[in-house]
Amino acid sequence: MTTTLQPPPSPPTLAEPRGYPVIGHALDYRLNPLSFYSHCAEYGDFVRLRFGPHPVYFLNHPDLIKEVFVTKGSSFLARAEGRESRFFDPLFGHGLAVSEGTFWRRQRRLMQPIFQRSHLADYGGWAVAQMRAQLDTWPVGDVTDIRPVMARCARRIITKIVFGEAGLAHLDSLEAVLNAALKEYDNRDRNWLLYLMPEHFPTPSNRRYHEAVEAMNQWIYAAIAAGREHNPDRGDMLCQLLKVQDDTGVGMGDRELRDELVNVIVGHDTLPDVFCWAWWQIAHYPDWEDRLVEEWQTVLGGRSPSMEDIPRLPLTEWTVKETLRLYPLAWVTGRVATQDCAIAGQPIHAGENVVMCQWVTHRDSRWFDHPNSFNPQRWAPDAAQRIPTHAYYPFGGGPRACIGQGLTMLEAVLLLADIGQRFKLRPLPGQTMVPHPGPSFSLRPPHGLQVQILAR
Ligand code: HEM
Repeated sequence: MTTTLQPPPSPPTLAEPRGYPVIGHALDYRLNPLSFYSHCAEYGDFVRLRFGPHPVYFLNHPDLIKEVFVTKGSSFLARAEGRESRFFDPLFGHGLAVSEGTFWRRQRRLMQPIFQRSHLADYGGWAVAQMRAQLDTWPVGDVTDIRPVMARCARRIITKIVFGEAGLAHLDSLEAVLNAALKEYDNRDRNWLLYLMPEHFPTPSNRRYHEAVEAMNQWIYAAIAAGREHNPDRGDMLCQLLKVQDDTGVGMGDRELRDELVNVIVGHDTLPDVFCWAWWQIAHYPDWEDRLVEEWQTVLGGRSPSMEDIPRLPLTEWTVKETLRLYPLAWVTGRVATQDCAIAGQPIHAGENVVMCQWVTHRDSRWFDHPNSFNPQRWAPDAAQRIPTHAYYPFGGGPRACIGQGLTMLEAVLLLADIGQRFKLRPLPGQTMVPHPGPSFSLRPPHGLQVQILAR
């Protein structure tokens, strides 16, 4: 990195690309959201768009992004009300990812301690142990789509972390919910008219989704009731949350507990995609792979990694960071103004939306040399310190930044190292991995990742 941060002119010039009559830019966005926002960035750092009658401001400079996340954060809500969010209400409830205001602040304060470093060591150990049990069954030589394999492992891991060993008996129920929700999301991505339907309209897949959520709720509430009766202090998240209390001495109710635990589980479901994109990249950079293998063999030599190994696995950590730069699973983040305010002097009115696109900022040559190349070395401390904080925000920023960030990085590094020291995952030739998200928040590999599993 040789670039230094260029401040935008203040106030920034507001660009207004022409849209179609009535629909504005909605169709261009719908056809290909990633290239749409990349194209918007060509107009400037502060671009006024229009989706139907609604103005949306696209911001693409670390200073502007910081203003929205941090300095003027209190002028914005993280979530817009809409049919899309209402459909997911039964799943997310009023959990952290979707709540706002005083309630969100209370819940965030109650939740924060369970993600502390002292607990991460346990979670990391459990993650490695669960993964190791699965790795023993991986068929060497076989060709498989590694995404569902990793999804199953990740769900085992988070079930153990959230509910302890007893939760693993309900893994199938959890899978049913997550798969049904994802399927319904995909259906709605393909056909937006589905959002016009009442949320409970009994299409077969909608019914499956609601039934799966209902079945999951039953055993989660049973686990909460059992925990309240005799909290066994197993160290899992449920046990810890049963003990937390706010400033007035009040803990979480059953519904609140259920919602927060489910939000954690759904948030964690991003992990399989981190691995798919990481392996895809690693396989295309054999020199880097050689260096990684050397790191794994030197530091681990076949034994299980633990949190104490993290400082000695820097190349693995840079690999994960670089993967999340090129493939930020949360590829776009929006905010809604709750009051009239100004960003870098430009007025934003109450009710108007701003949008920041990780996919675009992370690939901006002002902050990243050769931005489309996979170069984990850019995260070496000397080079990384020149990257502006809000030029890289795979986990968002400000008070609403991802609560699972530390856990994600820990698991991703430990598991990548542990799987990588044992297996080489060779993507089948001829595959394309071009991300094409619909309006959904996640940058999933569109067709999974077919690999041949080889022993190291
Ligand atoms: C690569 C993996 C992940 C990515 C890229 C990611 C990304 C994000 C981002 C960008 C936000 C902020 C959204 C906003 O500002 O509107 C967020 C929030 C959140 N994430 Fe993650 N996340 C990941 C993994 C996880 C994990 C493992 C968990 C749970 C263990 C989790 C739980 C949450 C929750 C509960 C929130 C809401 C926090 C709040 O608003 O207080 N995420 N995540």
